[in-house]
Amino acid sequence: MILPDDRPRALLVGGGGGLVGRALLPELARTWQIRSVHRHPVPAEADLGVEWVAADVTRVPDWNPLLRDVDLVITLPWYRAGYDRRFRSLGASLRGVVDAAARAGVRRLVHVSVPDAPTALETRLPYLVEKRAVDRHLAAGGPPHSIVRPTMLFGPRDRLLTVMLRVMHRYRRFPMFGDGAYHVSPLATDDLAEILVREARAEGRRNVTAGGPERFVYRELTDRMFDALGRPPKYVRFSPRGAVRLAHLTEALGSSILYAYEVEWLLSDRLGLPPYAGLDHPLRGVAPFLAAEAARLTSGRRPGRG
Ligand SMILES: NC(=O)c1ccc[n+]([C@@H]2O[C@H](COP(=O)([O-])OP(=O)(O)OC[C@H]3O[C@@H](n4cnc5c(N)ncnc54)[C@H](OP(=O)(O)O)[C@@H]3O)[C@@H](O)[C@H]2O)c1
Repeated sequence: MILPDDRPRALLVGGGGGLVGRALLPELARTWQIRSVHRHPVPAEADLGVEWVAADVTRVPDWNPLLRDVDLVITLPWYRAGYDRRFRSLGASLRGVVDAAARAGVRRLVHVSVPDAPTALETRLPYLVEKRAVDRHLAAGGPPHSIVRPTMLFGPRDRLLTVMLRVMHRYRRFPMFGDGAYHVSPLATDDLAEILVREARAEGRRNVTAGGPERFVYRELTDRMFDALGRPPKYVRFSPRGAVRLAHLTEALGSSILYAYEVEWLLSDRLGLPPYAGLDHPLRGVAPFLAAEAARLTSGRRPGRG
């Protein structure tokens, strides 16, 4: 890809090598020179001419040098699980980025957050308590911004649909939590990347939720996933309480396949967000992704690395 060198500069705080970052980098690089702060090397960044600053976001002593000549800041990093201290530290660092960006006169900050969750999780789970503290801090005093709150994402090497398909393929059965009648509207990471770039050009203060084009009853989506694998759907049923207990057990055994809070969030029926409106093409449906992943699984091929 030949990239123009008069592009304005964007600072990507964390996440260049993560699920969202892998989709965002090529999209963002079309119009922005990227400075990207994260810990592990990402080969795609070198190919795109990204300036990589190898650092843990929680250990950057001063953001001012990294904000030099920067018009846009995008904040991505978060942890899926961990101790309170870990979330407190990353949350405090992201609030520090917000303050430094405001002082430096950054034109816009795009922050990736999460959809609403049940009150018990919002008020007690460090993952959410600290995430919301960052959201509120930005809304209260940050530079002009968009807080983008996508629902469950799908894309190469995601940890939801890809992992679910793998379980179905391997065990020919899948756990069904409760009646499966709650909703999900999965959003493609490529669409989220375009949404973030669009929000980077927006004006004022925006808080937007972002769902994908199709709102499935969860059980209908899992049926389709079995169908993509060419298998009849077979479920091992758990009551909602049993499902949360199962997730606690897998967590206690050290597995990261599923966390109890993720089960509670899913069961709360808050993940079927309406589609994001504003891209100049229809949002990507889930069927081609499922077909490609199912073909890869059934042929034994490994996923490509970005
Ligand atoms: N995945 C979803 O379904 C989903 C849905 C809604 C919202 N989100 C939000 O989207 C954002 C990105 O999620 P993701 O799924 O792309 O996450 P991910 O795949 O786990 O990637 C997280 C990235 O953050 C970086 N990171 C984490 N801690 C860091 C630290 N202390 N310092 C520097 N970099 C750090 C990691 O890079 P290094 O290891 O190189 O440092 C990693 O590339 C998060 O804010 C998440 O809450 C995700």
